Amino acid sequence: MMFWRSVVGKLWITILLLVSFVLFILTVTLLQFFENYHINETRKDMIHTAEKIARVLKEHPGNEEALALEIAWELIDDNEKVTVIKDQNTYLYSPSSDETTHVPISFYTTDKDLSLVFERDKTVDMITSLPNDTNEAGSTQYLMIGVPLHQQEKENGAVFIYQSLAVMEETTKLTSKFILLAAGVAIILTTIFAFFLLTRITSPLRKMREAAFEVARGKFDTKVPILTHDEIGELATAFNQMGRQLKFNMNALSQEKEQLTSILSSMADGVITFNRDGTILITNPPAEIFLRNWYYEQGLASENSDAVPSEVMELFLLAVNTEKEQVGEISAQGRTWVIIVSPLYNKRFIRGAVAVVRDMTEERKLDKMREDFIANVSHELRTPISLLQGYSEAIVDEIAQTDEEKKEMAKVIYDESLRMGRLVNELLDLARMQAGHTLLNLESVELKPYINRVIRKFQGLTKEKGIELSVKLETEERFFRMDPDRIEQVLTNLIDNAIRHVPDSASVEIIGRTDERGLYIEVSDQGSGIPEEDLPFLFERFYKGDKSRTRGVSGTGLGLAIAKNIIDAHRGNISVKSKIGHGTTFSFFIPRNID
Ligand SMILES: Nc1ncnc2c1ncn2[C@@H]1O[C@H](COP(=O)(O)OP(=O)(O)OP(=O)(O)O)[C@@H](O)[C@H]1O
Ligand SMILES: [Mg+2]
Repeated sequence: MMFWRSVVGKLWITILLLVSFVLFILTVTLLQFFENYHINETRKDMIHTAEKIARVLKEHPGNEEALALEIAWELIDDNEKVTVIKDQNTYLYSPSSDETTHVPISFYTTDKDLSLVFERDKTVDMITSLPNDTNEAGSTQYLMIGVPLHQQEKENGAVFIYQSLAVMEETTKLTSKFILLAAGVAIILTTIFAFFLLTRITSPLRKMREAAFEVARGKFDTKVPILTHDEIGELATAFNQMGRQLKFNMNALSQEKEQLTSILSSMADGVITFNRDGTILITNPPAEIFLRNWYYEQGLASENSDAVPSEVMELFLLAVNTEKEQVGEISAQGRTWVIIVSPLYNKRFIRGAVAVVRDMTEERKLDKMREDFIANVSHELRTPISLLQGYSEAIVDEIAQTDEEKKEMAKVIYDESLRMGRLVNELLDLARMQAGHTLLNLESVELKPYINRVIRKFQGLTKEKGIELSVKLETEERFFRMDPDRIEQVLTNLIDNAIRHVPDSASVEIIGRTDERGLYIEVSDQGSGIPEEDLPFLFERFYKGDKSRTRGVSGTGLGLAIAKNIIDAHRGNISVKSKIGHGTTFSFFIPRNID
C-alpha cells in the first residue's frame, strides 16, 4: 500500500501540516512583536536622551556652552548621532558623526513632519532614509527624533537625534533564525511521536485485517490478540466474538446440510432439483442411476453431461408455468420410471422445481403378469369351451348319424371337460400354494418302488414312441421323508415334458441320489433343448417354450410353476440346465428334516 494512502500517512501529514501552520503563525506574530517592542524602546530612549541634551543646553547658555556640549556628547551612545540647531544659521553636529553622514539643515527645516518641531514646538519622530545616503543596496532606515530647544534670547531651535535601524534588523534575523530552528526541531519531534503513536494504533488494525482474511478463508478459529483496553481493544473483542459466532453458525449450517444430504442419499426414490432455467442443481444416487440409464440410451457420455431428459424438461416447464404438480412416465434401458415434478417456491416466487423419480419396473412387471395371466386363462378355457359348444351342438342338431359318431363326439366332449377340470384344479392348486396354504402330507417313502410306480404310468407312451426310460438310483438309503403325492406330481410333469420334447426312440434318464443334506433327483433328456433366453421364465405360470400356444407338444404351461411351488413347500430348490439341440436336465433337491 502507498504510504500516503495509509491511515498512518494521512494522520501524519495532517498533524505535520497543523504543527507547521501553528508554528508559522507563531513565528510571524513573535517577529512582529519583537520588532515593535524594540523600536518603541529605542524611541523612548532616544527621546529621553534628546530631551536631556536640550535641557543641558538650555541651562548652560553663553560661555558655559562648551561644557554643556561636552556633557551632551557624553550622554549619547556610539551609534547615535545628533544635530543641534540653535537657529536658522547656527548648528552643531555630534563628534561621532563623520562628514558623510551629516544631514543638511535644509532636510530638517523642509521636511513636512520634522519641521513641526519648529512650528508647533513639539517632539517629533519618524523613520526615514538619510538624504545623502548613497548605499547601493537600498538605503538604510533611520529612526529620527526631534525635540524643541529653547535657549534664551534665541529663536526656536531643536535637537535632532537619529540612529540606524540596521542593528535591529540584525536582531530580527537572529530571532527568526532561532524560531525557525525551534520549529524544525518541533516538526522532527512531532514526526517521531506521531509515527510512534500511529504505528501503535495501526498495528493491531493490521493484525485484524490479516485475521479477517483468515476468517474469509474459512479459518474461524483465528483470534486477534487483545493488547489494549481502548476502542481498538473493544474492536478486537468484537472481532473474536464475531469469529466464534460465525463458526457456530457455519457448523449449524453444515450440520443441517449434511443431514439433508444424508436423507437425500439414503432415499429409495430419486430426487432432482432444478433452478428456474431448468439446470440440474442436486441429484441423489437413485436419480443418478436414472440419468445414467437415460444418457446411455441417448448415446451421451454420462460423465460431465448436464443434459436434462426431454420428457423431464417438458414436465418441468409445465410445472413451472402452471404452478401445478406434473406426473409422467419414462422408460429407458428396459426400466420404467414415474416422475413427479413439483414447483419449488422461494416465498411467493417459483425458484425452480423438484422432481421425484421412482423406479416402477417391478410394479409394471406385476401389472403385466396379471394381465397376461387373465389373457392366458381365458385363452386356455376358450379352446375347450368352443369344442364343447361345437360338439354338443352337433349332437343336439343330430348331425351325427351313427351311434359310432355320437360316441366319438361324446368322447371329445368328455376329454375336453376333463382337461378343463384339470386346468381349473391346477390353477386352484397353484393359487393355494402361492398363498402359502400348501399342507404337506409327509411320510417315509420307500424310494425304489415309489419311482418305479411313477415310471410305470408312462409305459404306454414310451412304448408307442420307442423311447427308452431308465432309472438309476445311486443310494443305499431305502426310505426318504416327503409328500409322495406332490413329488409324484413334480416327477410326472418333468418326465411328461421330457417325453414330449424328445424325438422318437431317444432316451430319458432319471437319476436319484442322497447325501447328508437330502435327496437329489435329475430328469435328463436328449431332446430339443430350451433357448437360453427362455430359461429364466420357465418356472412362471403359463410360460411355454413354443409361443404358438397350440395344444400338441406343449400343455398349459402350468406344470413347472406347480413343480416349483411344491419343491419350495419342501424347502428345496429346482433348477434347469439346457443346451439347444443337445437336451435338457431338470434337477431338484429336497432337504432332510423338513419340519
Ligand atoms: N424337457 C424339456 N425339453 C424342452 N422343453 C421343455 C422341457 N420341459 C419343459 N419345456 C418347455 O417348458 C415349457 C413349460 O413347461 P410346463 O411343464 O410348465 O408346461 P407344459 O408342459 O407346456 O404344460 P403342462 O405341464 O401344464 O401340461 C414347455 O412348454 C416347454 O416349452
Ligand atoms: Mg409339462
